[in-house]
Amino acid sequence: MTDALLTETRDETTAAWWRQAAVYQIYPRSFADANGDGLGDIPGIVSRADYLRDLGIDAVWLSPFYPSALADGGYDVADYRNVDPRLGTLEDFDEMVAALHDRGIRVVVDIVPNHSSDLHEWFQEALAAGRGSAARERYIFREGSGPDGSEPPTDWTAAFGGSAWERVDDGQWFLHSFAPEQPDLNWDHPEVREDFLKTLRFWSDRGVDGFRIDVAHMLTKDLTEPLPSTAELELLPHDGNHPLHDRDDVHEVYAEWRRVFDEYDPPRTAVAEAWVSTPERRAKYASAEGLGQAFNFDLLVADFDATQFRTIITDNLAQSQATGSSTTWVLSNHDVTRHATRYGLPQLGGRTGAKQGVEWVAAGGPEDQLDRERGLRRAHAATLLLLGLPGSTYLYQGEELGLQEVAEISAEQRQDPAFFRGAVFDGLGRDGCRVPLPWTASGPSFGFGSGEAHLPQPDWFAESAVDVEAADPSSTLSLYREALRLRRELQTDETLEWIETGRPDVLRFARPNGWQIVTNFGTEPFDLGTDAADVVLGSVSGGAVPADSTVWIAPGLIG
Ligand code: BGC
Repeated sequence: MTDALLTETRDETTAAWWRQAAVYQIYPRSFADANGDGLGDIPGIVSRADYLRDLGIDAVWLSPFYPSALADGGYDVADYRNVDPRLGTLEDFDEMVAALHDRGIRVVVDIVPNHSSDLHEWFQEALAAGRGSAARERYIFREGSGPDGSEPPTDWTAAFGGSAWERVDDGQWFLHSFAPEQPDLNWDHPEVREDFLKTLRFWSDRGVDGFRIDVAHMLTKDLTEPLPSTAELELLPHDGNHPLHDRDDVHEVYAEWRRVFDEYDPPRTAVAEAWVSTPERRAKYASAEGLGQAFNFDLLVADFDATQFRTIITDNLAQSQATGSSTTWVLSNHDVTRHATRYGLPQLGGRTGAKQGVEWVAAGGPEDQLDRERGLRRAHAATLLLLGLPGSTYLYQGEELGLQEVAEISAEQRQDPAFFRGAVFDGLGRDGCRVPLPWTASGPSFGFGSGEAHLPQPDWFAESAVDVEAADPSSTLSLYREALRLRRELQTDETLEWIETGRPDVLRFARPNGWQIVTNFGTEPFDLGTDAADVVLGSVSGGAVPADSTVWIAPGLIG
């Protein structure tokens, strides 16, 4: 290729596709099951490629589809460069990338670098090789405490509950920040670093456009002896030198990854899942020399509340302008109670959204605490607001159907390790948002597959099945399709201007090209005056924006 041609194809618009993309998260084991074994698979995704095109998204992000014992829904990866045989083959994966690319949809895959599965060949080797071996150096093995080493090296707890250390047969202990089947890798080890570069190239060479980086803030650790206790850790500031979280030296890893991403044309993109203490700390992950973008979960933990939304939006836009990245918006994903349910619960005040969903699930989902209709109305309002904002929006499979969290899953049917290990942070665990999608109102597993789905689907899924909603112009699916279509016109410059409404519970902003978004978080209708005539999305009644709703006003029409 000549230089001139190269410059032509390295077009900035293509390279910057991620800046304002609508990215749809697929949880592959619960999306569509082509072979009837009850687990969603890659051919299932191919079979729904037209559905994804018609939805109008720009990219899909696939949660892990790699070989895994499913100790943590696939976030326990046994082989980073392969497809779980229950989900398909590498050839199926290639076919999926081609099918999605043909429809103008980019593909983002999940990379899980903090830990592998205990079934990964490296960990099996480490177990066999014994204490003091080179193979153990790739993980974090330590001697126990107490006179005979029978106590864990420290009192640290894992995110899913219980000790963060597990003992192996010869008496040593290994660190696992999540489940015991997820041993933490040692990021000081050059082979660990090399191997992930190989993985990034492997998937990039297969045409993957970007990566979502799991717990991006936890890779590097300072494990200099003596190790601190939990109480000592709690006193330490999160300033880049904390022994376990959000260390400055993790960015050396991402600078190396960036060099790999930039070997490709267009450069591969990445988004960090980094639960860090401040927007400033988050910005480091989003830097152009690093991963480029980071998830902003602020709205996910907020109430349905105008003041909270406005502050979060303003702060994050300022932050992304300062760093040159683009911001991200998320209301639901595979780790939290679906937002249609969260918003139907009493709002607690303060940034408590995710927590209150957790409490409801943990209590067994009492219906008298939940107003499903109101939750769905507010979910529509919040999503339409998000889709009108500058930056990229991440949508989670099933939210386009207005799905609610499923509480009715028995203990025997649950799969989430957080449930079995009694983690406090998500109560009954995350299975309720991972129930396989309903594609048809009738038939086995609501059209998910020909067999029984791996998690039980409630009867009420019939009302939200794709075939029902596709035929109904007033459904959540029709609303998402229309919003995602109009969004292509709306997303230009990455700025907005707030317009004062005289009401603290009503937010209104304009994009530079004239589009306006109005969200009424309150209980009284908001009068739009003559602008009501120019509403192209959302509904007005008697010239007013009803409670718990959002409207989009098109430019040019505004008189
Ligand atoms: C993922 C979770 C997973 C955890 C450990 C996360 O943040 O989103 O689903 O359990 O990382 O890999």
